[in-house]
Amino acid sequence: MKKLLDQITEEVQKAFAASGYEEEYGKVTLSNRPDLCEYQCNGSMAAAKKYRCAPIQIAGKVAEELQKSAVFEEVLAVNPGFINLKVSSSFVQTYLRKMQKDERLGCDKADKPRTIIVDYGGPNVAKPLHVGHLRSAIIGESVKRLGRFAGHEMIGDIHLGDWGLQMGLIITELKRRKPELPYFDESFTGDYPEEAPFTISELEEIYPTASARSKEDEDYKNEAMEATYLVQHGHRGYQAVLQHILDVSVADLKKNYANLNVEFDLWKGESDAQPYIPGLVKMLKDKGFAYESEGALVVDVKEDTDTKEVPPCMILKSDGASLYTTTDLATIVERMKLYRPDEMIYVVDKRQEMHFVQVFRCARKTGLVAADTGLKFLGFGTMNGKDGKPFKTREGGVMRLEHLLSDINEEMYRKIVENSEAEIPENEARKTAEIVGLSAVKYGDLSNQASKDYVFDVERFTSFEGNTGPYILYTIVRIKSILNKYREMGFDPEAGMIGMPGNETQKNLMLRLARFNGAVLNAFEELAPHKICAYIYELANAFNKFYHETKILGEENAEVRSELVAVLVLTKRVLETCIGILGFEAPERM
Ligand code: ARG
Repeated sequence: MKKLLDQITEEVQKAFAASGYEEEYGKVTLSNRPDLCEYQCNGSMAAAKKYRCAPIQIAGKVAEELQKSAVFEEVLAVNPGFINLKVSSSFVQTYLRKMQKDERLGCDKADKPRTIIVDYGGPNVAKPLHVGHLRSAIIGESVKRLGRFAGHEMIGDIHLGDWGLQMGLIITELKRRKPELPYFDESFTGDYPEEAPFTISELEEIYPTASARSKEDEDYKNEAMEATYLVQHGHRGYQAVLQHILDVSVADLKKNYANLNVEFDLWKGESDAQPYIPGLVKMLKDKGFAYESEGALVVDVKEDTDTKEVPPCMILKSDGASLYTTTDLATIVERMKLYRPDEMIYVVDKRQEMHFVQVFRCARKTGLVAADTGLKFLGFGTMNGKDGKPFKTREGGVMRLEHLLSDINEEMYRKIVENSEAEIPENEARKTAEIVGLSAVKYGDLSNQASKDYVFDVERFTSFEGNTGPYILYTIVRIKSILNKYREMGFDPEAGMIGMPGNETQKNLMLRLARFNGAVLNAFEELAPHKICAYIYELANAFNKFYHETKILGEENAEVRSELVAVLVLTKRVLETCIGILGFEAPERM
């Protein structure tokens, strides 16, 4: 379905043409004076320069032409040359009726679907998930769902950090604790045990211990570096340990991401890209892209228009070791080979921006991607505590994701018990608290423009009022409860057709509903889930105003009542679709 705004614009453009002006001046925008009109066209101002006359003259002529249109109920030319527009009720009604009948709510699927890989999550194996990984998971998941809804082939890849010094550290520490294990017996040729020699909680304790020790003990650190080298170069026993680390970590990560309603299509990691490195290095050398600089192998990626220095992209260190950039380049090679994506989107902390500038430029320059393959960096800001500093535990340590979520759920549980009129059974209240708690965390994050830092404010995020997840869910639950009552009265909520708006409040709600497809497509184009949040916040406000002013189930005329219910059903569908895109859902009651 064509966007409502596009339909309106076309109508105004036709009127410009019919009045003897170029139609490009007929662009329409949302009104910035909603008290006066719903839409406006400012094109007469620009047209006046070209046609050398007063803008109000043009506006007047076009407005007169528009009187004939069935799209508008009111058209006014006002000084100095605006055209103020109110659309007709029947136009909105017709639009919503089409939306009502369409399972996609009027949002067409992309006619040229693209294959898009979203690289998000990016946790580091063997290190506990902490709040730093939260944003990537939340934003990435939403971008993936947004693209999927828009009709694209979206592939979410977790891109595990499974190729670093942390592996060597864990191996070294394990060897110190349990030297008798067969992995450390160089003469061992049998099969290694299937059972991992540690649990996830042991693993999560081993890494920080080893990391701390390596900072104090030079020999220990050297041993860990040696172990890292060996595991990366085929040491049989160490690779068996690595596999255990991966298995144990991945099982735990899956559980944690499932709690966040985050799902990946690919569970690949940095290690999967390693086999592509030798070929990559050879190509870069053979084609003359890479050269030696102070022993290291680098590719120049600076451009004439750079305003700040972009250092060369490092491919190999002087000792021949590969780096983060190398792995990301090799991952691009792997992805192009296996999935042929039209685009790759990286949802990563914005402090890594320079890294991606280098990687993207290098990939383009050296032809790793086709000229029209999109490479996008969606950098996000830091999640801060109320003190404005990166979010920490009360003791000042790194907050584990699990703890953060359980704190939120506890707070949510308290509010739900406090709020509900009827007695809710404990286990239902707990379950609801989890659902609503997730909305609090996700909406609290997604409602901010991704690139900005924001303050993680448990009090505000869990509030049932204001621009919060719980407020949106509350609105949906309110609708569900009215629909249930309507059903209990013996009627089918799905049976009603959208009617003509009975008053301004209802019309305003209907106009907002009609903007659904525009809001979704625009959010996807700009990779901006916060625009979906802004849209549903306004929609929820428009709905609640309507709810407070309107007798719905109390309406005596059954026909009118069924039309009001139809608006409720549509509002619920739109809100539920949007929160689905944001990555959470609504409970039955709260
Ligand atoms: N593991 C990395 C980190 O924790 C994030 C990975 C981001 N993705 C990528 N392709 N580099 O910083």
